[in-house]
Amino acid sequence: MSYRPPAAYGALMADVSQILITAEDIEQRVDEIAERVSADYADRNPILIGVLKGVVPFMADLLRMITIPVEVDFMAVSSYSPEARDQGVVRLVKDLEMPITGRHVLFVEDVIDTGLTLSYVLRTLRAREPATLEVCVLFNKPKRRLIDVPLKYKGFDLPDKLVVGWGLDYRERYRNLPLVGLLKPGVFQNDVEA
Ligand code: PRP
Repeated sequence: MSYRPPAAYGALMADVSQILITAEDIEQRVDEIAERVSADYADRNPILIGVLKGVVPFMADLLRMITIPVEVDFMAVSSYSPEARDQGVVRLVKDLEMPITGRHVLFVEDVIDTGLTLSYVLRTLRAREPATLEVCVLFNKPKRRLIDVPLKYKGFDLPDKLVVGWGLDYRERYRNLPLVGLLKPGVFQNDVEA
């Protein structure tokens, strides 16, 4: 896939202080993960499950690079409140369309930070008794982890900073940047002071 150069995203890149990961790096890493998934799940007809919305670019790339028969489904969750989220409770606002009982499920995430969302969703999925349940994450932020979650496939470790792009947002923007970059402190400090 060819991507437009970062400079083409002038208004968005004006808020980025540093590019941490380029499109080429991500594409190569996703290709490696897809190759491993294709080998590990050959003849198992896995279901890839993602939680909207940040996972969309990663899921689209991974799905197309996997070379075995595969199915895909999505969930959406939302926090009741920041306090509830801190306790690992999120609300399921869109459930899967497919039953997963007895199926080989690969849960695909864009980013894992505290691990609370993942832990809640995995509990929900495990209760439906899939044959296997593994996790594939593109970006891992290990610094703020509160719950240890086993990651079978992992793309990149990220610093505990406000990073955007490739699905990662700040106030719903920057998801379309074909890179991962650090947001300039002024961008979110202005919001806090406003
Ligand atoms: C992100 C990501 C995970 C969650 C990880 O979603 O997709 O679901 O945060 O954080 P945690 O490990 O601290 O629980 P977000 O709530 O930003 O929603 P989005 O995917 O719509 O951007």
